[in-house]
Order: sequence, then structure tokens, then C-alpha cells
Amino acid sequence: MCGIFGCVLKRSEAAPLIRAGLKRLEYRGYDSVGEVTVHQRRLFIKKDSGKIDEVHKLHNLDDLPGRVGIGHTRWATHGAPYQANAHPHTDCQEELAVVHNGIIENFGELKAELVEAGHAFRSKTDTEVIAHLIEERLKEGLTLAEAACAAAKRLEGSYAIAVVSLKEPDKIVCARKESPLVVGLADDAAYCASDIPAFLPLTNKVVIVEDGELVIISDAECEIRKISDFKKVPREPEIIDWSPEMAEKQGYPHFMLKEIHEQPLRLRNTLRLQEQYLELMTTFLDRAGEVFLVACGTSYHACLAASYMFSKLALLATHPVIASEFVEQHGRSVNIDSTILVVSQSGETADTLSTVESSRQRAATVLGLTNVIGSTLTRVARVYVCQQSGPEIGVAATKTFTSQLSVLSQLALRLAKKRGKVSHVEIEELEEKLEQIPEIVETIIRLQEDKVKRLAKKYRGKRCFFFLGRGISSAAAMEGRLKLMEIAYIPSIAYPAGESKHGPISLIEKGFPVVFVCPKDETHKTIVSNIMEMKARGASIISVIEEGDEKIKALSDDYIEIPKGLPEVLSPIPAVVPLQLFAYYMAIENGCDPDKPRNLAKSVTVK
Ligand code: F6R
Repeated sequence: MCGIFGCVLKRSEAAPLIRAGLKRLEYRGYDSVGEVTVHQRRLFIKKDSGKIDEVHKLHNLDDLPGRVGIGHTRWATHGAPYQANAHPHTDCQEELAVVHNGIIENFGELKAELVEAGHAFRSKTDTEVIAHLIEERLKEGLTLAEAACAAAKRLEGSYAIAVVSLKEPDKIVCARKESPLVVGLADDAAYCASDIPAFLPLTNKVVIVEDGELVIISDAECEIRKISDFKKVPREPEIIDWSPEMAEKQGYPHFMLKEIHEQPLRLRNTLRLQEQYLELMTTFLDRAGEVFLVACGTSYHACLAASYMFSKLALLATHPVIASEFVEQHGRSVNIDSTILVVSQSGETADTLSTVESSRQRAATVLGLTNVIGSTLTRVARVYVCQQSGPEIGVAATKTFTSQLSVLSQLALRLAKKRGKVSHVEIEELEEKLEQIPEIVETIIRLQEDKVKRLAKKYRGKRCFFFLGRGISSAAAMEGRLKLMEIAYIPSIAYPAGESKHGPISLIEKGFPVVFVCPKDETHKTIVSNIMEMKARGASIISVIEEGDEKIKALSDDYIEIPKGLPEVLSPIPAVVPLQLFAYYMAIENGCDPDKPRNLAKSVTVK
């Protein structure tokens, strides 16, 4: 998730405004920064790795001349965060420059084609292909907008791009597909940006650019066209009356809610990971003598779910272990045949990194799954995969959890294929369902959020909750409990449902709320018995069920429905979403700030 900002000004210099705009977008990514301006038939570019303030201190980003320019704050997806990979990227002649937010899935093929045609590449990014594609079309005599449109048609994946060129020095051309892009208009200026907060102090007159559209910005105006047929699209600007703080959260009252709603988009991004890294990691898992899945907190719950995925799909037994226990529990037995798949959103969690350290000392293979390229985990892991969730600001992990699950299920599926453990038909079905997951999550949020809000009102006075699930759903139950505890401060208990009768059931009395996660999988029959056990003792049953599950509906005091027909191994992704929402609204009901739970930090760097 990167941030882009551009401006065409009538009177003043663009560079200081671009830096200020990027600063307001820094929450979208902050490992590199760059700006380009157009002045007197030249492009002026400054870029480097580091946060905006660091790069500005070193290079003075404000002294680039000219009234037109674009800038970028990066969150690395392809290519490590170093200077050559920072945006903007230029064509061979340095006559045009591009900034980009998103992932170009077919950049490998496009790059090979462009190299064959004689283009020289300077970076390892997917973005650079866009500059060279536009260069090709400009050579044919197209206008900048036509050339950008032709290039956009060749791109697969997601993008919001902004382009400047010496050929049309008073313009910025932008295009978007599945990555955000907005335009701001003022009397003497026009802006483009990833998000409204970038230009909100300058104007509140906003034009929203839709998917599949291209926008030509010049002279305090903008013209929108469809990428498919280049036809003009009339659109009136809207007046936005958000405060800057609201704008940063895109109108949501909290980052946590924004991030819950962002999950469909983030899940789409996890389906566009670079094949070669997934394949490499699968090869390591395939060769391993034993596999540990190690993490803390929410990431540990992803590992727990993954252990079911690997076992059910690839027939690979793995050991999910809480990182702070790993050295005590397994430290001495780990050896050269052990493979440790370490999962850490931040890539900096101290307990997790100490596992890495001790395992490396014993010659084990360390693999990493993280959200932060450039983090310690990416430097010490033999192979790592970036989960592509974009920066998560809310302290409670939400979108990063579902992204982790998506990546882990893809790994399990690949391994199953490699080992020939699942039939072609089953693999195709799973792949098809995985593609549908973003839409399914979108549907759950759309249809169930109001209901969850009402449930939070109903159960707000309860002092303790139980969360139960069987099989892979026990991971979703544990995650639901962690969310409720950490942000609404309600003591809660989670167990695999079968275990609840070996002790915890003694807590149940009339009205005790028990949340059951029960998709219609192989555990359905037994979980019905567990629900009846609880109900017989007076518990209030709140269930997360598949649509049309009349049996559990009849046993429940309240239920939340998720779409039916989900394969068991993927079900925790949609099942956890109502539980995230429940925790959020319970926190609100209890007057807690969900973004800043007491005593917690986003990245726990002490042991
Ligand atoms: C809970 C939460 C924490 C983290 C844990 C591990 O909402 O965010 O439990 O999951 O501290 O953090 P990472 O994944 O960064 O290693």
C-alpha cells in the first residue's frame, strides 16, 4: 500500500506541496520516498529509501523547480526498499516519470517483452514496466493520455498511477484499477492523490475516480475517460466536509473499523503474490523433516489454522507453537532438518525473533511470512513472503490476520499439488473459492454489520464470554476471543469445543454468553452436541453459522450468517470477520478506544 500525490499549480512551486501531501499519506507506507517535477523541458527527480523526513533532510525535496509534479511514499511489494526501487520510475530517455500504488501481476512477461524490444531497466519494481510501456506508445505519436490508456490496458493486477511527461509538461495523467485515486480541485490548482487527506487542507472539492477510469489533470481542471474505450465520463465534484482526522480514516470513526472494511481489498492483493516466492517456500516445506509454525498473538492463531490446512490438504503434520515458548519447548531438539515458518505481521516481535535466532544457531531453515518488507524477519529468513496487507494502524490485528490466512492457505494448496495429495477437481474448486473470498467477506460486512451492532448493544453488560469452535474453527474462536479481550477489556475464554466439557463448562450458568463458530464442515454434528450441552445449562448461544443452517439457528439465541458452501480450510477467513466487528462494537458500547487499547503496543519488541 503506497501513497501517491501530484499537483498542477497555476502560480506556485509544486515540490513543497508534494512533500506536505506525501507526509499526510505516510500512514500508507514509509520505506522510501520520491518526487519528480517538470520544468523547462527537463524532469527533476529526487528519491531515496527512508522516511519522508529523513530523505528530505538528506536531499531537500523542496527545491525541485516547476509547477507540475508527482510524488510517492512507498511500502515495498516488489523489490527491496533501496534508492533504485523508490518511485518515480522513468522511461529510457528520462522523458516521462511514473508513480504507482498496487501490484502488476504480469510485470514479468511485460518486462521480458520490453527488454526484448531494447528497453533498459534500472529497478527491480513492477512499476517500471509502466514507464516503458507508455514510452513505446508515445513513440507512435499518441498523446500522453492515449499512451497511458494503451499501457493501462496491458496491465493485469491493481494500480493507481500518475504520469508526467516532457511531451505535455502541463499535465498529469492518472489511471486506476482497484487502488484508490481521488482528484482535488481548487481555483488555481488541481491535485491527485491516493486518499482525500493528502489534499484536504488545500481543497475540499473532490472528484472520485472510479475503477477502470483515466483522468487528465491540467489547469485546475480534470477530464475523466474510460480506459476501455477512451470515452469521456462527465462527473461533478463533491464537497467533502470531513475534518483532517476523519479524512485520514476515510470517514470511519476508527482505524480498526476502516481496516476491517478494507479486508476484501487486501485479500484481493494476497491473491496476487509473486509465484516464485510462494513456490520457493513450498519447496522448502516439502523437503522439511519437521515443520514448526511459530508466532505470537493473532499471528499464532493464523499458524494454528494453518496447521489444519497443511494437514488436511498436503497431509503435512506441522507444529504450531507460541513463539515465547518455542525455545523452552523445542529449542534443543531443533536441528538441520527442522523448518521453522515464522509468521509476524511486523517482522519485529522480540519473542518471534528469538525463535529465529535460536533456530538459526542450530542450522534450521527459517522461512518468514510478514507484512513489512525490510523488517528484521525479512533480513534473517531464508525465504520470505510479504502478505500485502498495507500498514495496519489499529493496534488490534484484523486485516493482517485474514491476509495471513489467505497466504497460508495458498501455501498449503501448492504443497498439496506438489505432493499430489489432492485431486485436480478439488484443487480447482478450492482455487475458485479462494478467488471468491474477498467478495464473500464484502457480503458479510454489508449484510451482517448492523446485526452485529445490535448484538453488541444486547450483550454489552456481560462480564465474561466463551468462544468455542471445533477443528479449524477453534482458531477463529480463539481470535474472536483475543479481539474482544484486548479492545473491549472483557475477560473471555476460548477452547476447542470438545475440550470445554473437561473443566470450563463449570463456569456456565443462566445467561452466560457462549459464541460458537460453526460452519457446516465435518465437525458440524459434534458441535451441535456441544451447543446442546451448553444450552442445557442455561447458556445464551450466539452462533456464527452458514446461511440456512436451520438446525443451529433453532438452538441459538442469536446468530450471524456467513455465505454457505465454503471449503472447511478457508472458512476461518470469513468466520472471523463478524467476530472482529463484534469486538469493535463491544469496545464502543463499553466506551473503550479500539485503536489504542491500554497497555498494548502495535509491535512488541521486548521479551
Ligand atoms: C492482537 C495483536 C497481537 C499481535 C502479536 C504478534 O490483535 O495484534 O497479538 O498479533 O503481538 O505481532 P506480529 O504479528 O507483528 O509478530
